[in-house]
Amino acid sequence: MTDTLKKIQEVAQKDLENLRSLAELEIARVRHLGRSSELSQFLRTLKDKTEDQRRELGQLANNVRQELESAFSQLKERLDDVAYSALEKLDVTAPAGRPRHGHIHPLTQAQEDSNAIFASMGFRIVEGPEVETEWTNFDALNTPADHPARGMQDTFWLKGMQYVMRTHTSPMQVRFMQAHQPPYRIIVPGRVYRNEATDGTHEFQFHQIEGLMVARKGESAPSLANLKGVMEHFYQRFFRDEHIKIRFNASFFPFVEPGVEVYIQGSSGKLKGRWIEVAGAGMVHQNVFENVGYVRGEMQGFAFGMALERIAMLKYKIDDIRLFQGSDLRFLKQF
Ligand code: DAH
Repeated sequence: MTDTLKKIQEVAQKDLENLRSLAELEIARVRHLGRSSELSQFLRTLKDKTEDQRRELGQLANNVRQELESAFSQLKERLDDVAYSALEKLDVTAPAGRPRHGHIHPLTQAQEDSNAIFASMGFRIVEGPEVETEWTNFDALNTPADHPARGMQDTFWLKGMQYVMRTHTSPMQVRFMQAHQPPYRIIVPGRVYRNEATDGTHEFQFHQIEGLMVARKGESAPSLANLKGVMEHFYQRFFRDEHIKIRFNASFFPFVEPGVEVYIQGSSGKLKGRWIEVAGAGMVHQNVFENVGYVRGEMQGFAFGMALERIAMLKYKIDDIRLFQGSDLRFLKQF
């Protein structure tokens, strides 16, 4: 019988030597000391023995139990220490993890740059509504309903055809002129909408920067030459390229006369060695002045409009306009 006890003790001791974690230890403890362990089974057989045997074997079995229990609790203490010091392994000299910084969206950067440059030339920055009336978006800008120029701007019409998602920032020219007397110079940055299919160079929603400078007719009233100077200064600073040249090509926009397309050529990157169209512009049409309530022939000024996406794509060498709205961090993190 004592052989049985010896064997129970040996097997348990051997098991103990191989335990590496508190979880393993708990499993082994149940196996060797639990209710269905061999030791417990052995103790249960004692009731069939004589009283002398019971006393003797009971004593021995209890010794085995106590020794095993103390071996288990010693090992538990050791393993507790190991687990604790693993948690405590903190190297205060290690470099701190860096907080992740956000990025200013490239369009926002381009917008802020542009605002700052125009502000330095004395332009005031104003904003207007994105839902416009048919009158401010088209009619007041010399574009009546039967005018073919309406077809140039595919339009999102709202209920009853009275309201539109503005197709350009030009209607803010009308709103500003109605509420102010010249002289003034303003910039209108903002979102515009076109009902057209999306591809690498077209979005149904994009941003424009409108410009307007008007004064009473006279020697110092804004001229086409002044427009060219403003454009040149703006693009040279925006693209950080003092070699940028400006070219006006005759063009048509109903709200200006004469109207031009503004082309630029620079000395590096996408602008090197070719003329690229970046804006529409011209001298404000006298019909527009009349529509907003000025006396025909009394005022003179220029206006221009450009797409923010276009100049941002040129500046940052972005090939697909859809990247701006794509929320792809691999793209955004580059700015
Ligand atoms: N509004 C025009 C467009 O979206 C751009 C434009 C052309 C604006 C000529 C102007 C301008 O102020 O004078 O296509």
